[in-house]
Amino acid sequence: MNYYFNNTPIFYKSTGSGPALVLLHGFLESSTIWKELIPDLKEKYTIICMDLPGHGKSGNLSEIHSMELMAEVLYELLTHLNIATCKLVGHSMGGYVALAFAESYPHAVDTLVLLNSTPLSDSIERKENRDRALRLIQSEKKLFIGMAIANLFSEETRLLFPSAIEALKKEAYSFSTEGIMANIRGMRDRVDRTALLKNFGGKKWVVAGTKDPIVPFSQCKLLALETESHFKTVEGSHMSWLENQDEIVKFLLFIDFFYL
Ligand code: MLT
Repeated sequence: MNYYFNNTPIFYKSTGSGPALVLLHGFLESSTIWKELIPDLKEKYTIICMDLPGHGKSGNLSEIHSMELMAEVLYELLTHLNIATCKLVGHSMGGYVALAFAESYPHAVDTLVLLNSTPLSDSIERKENRDRALRLIQSEKKLFIGMAIANLFSEETRLLFPSAIEALKKEAYSFSTEGIMANIRGMRDRVDRTALLKNFGGKKWVVAGTKDPIVPFSQCKLLALETESHFKTVEGSHMSWLENQDEIVKFLLFIDFFYL
């Protein structure tokens, strides 16, 4: 279904019943990544997943899709759906949006799950890589998408999921260059939300892949300690929703009960 934010279509799905569980995908992904997880999760939760601006079937809102802007879009969607409080799961860039959401609308989230994500902002080197990506994508969109998606996997897991990788690439080729660029700028310019995560009063989880090439495992572990978040280790790289699907489903079904 489409929800309209400033006259721009924002694609979302809502299914199931029970407390609201919002699933936010990462960069170059869409709500389709949750497809295999939803049948089990919807037995317990009302699942809401949206295509973030610039991704999937959603339109573009601005030259910069800041994390705050995307959080506002989610808040408006939840208001439209009469959902006052949710549990918020964000994969990678989706986690950056989840943190911005918790900052702007603390009353609207009782549980935060950062899945292969971090509250840190970009390092100088990473910002430079974003600027390089902004230049490359304008002339070599397919090459950029192909490389960027392959880089989300470790060498081992890349070999395990060839058809899923092809499907991710194929979908991402259909995203507009402007939308992808707006999200790169938004990630590059995002602020550090370590203090926000530490002060967040609800339940909070950091879930990290042992071989994540994007968000280093050791860094996630330290950040979980520093922010007093529960920490979950999964064997794999950056794409735990795919690589550790059953484990992530079971974990999400029990986020209210698990304590370390
Ligand atoms: C993602 O998977 O959402 C991105 O790789 C995150 C990032 O580039 O920081």
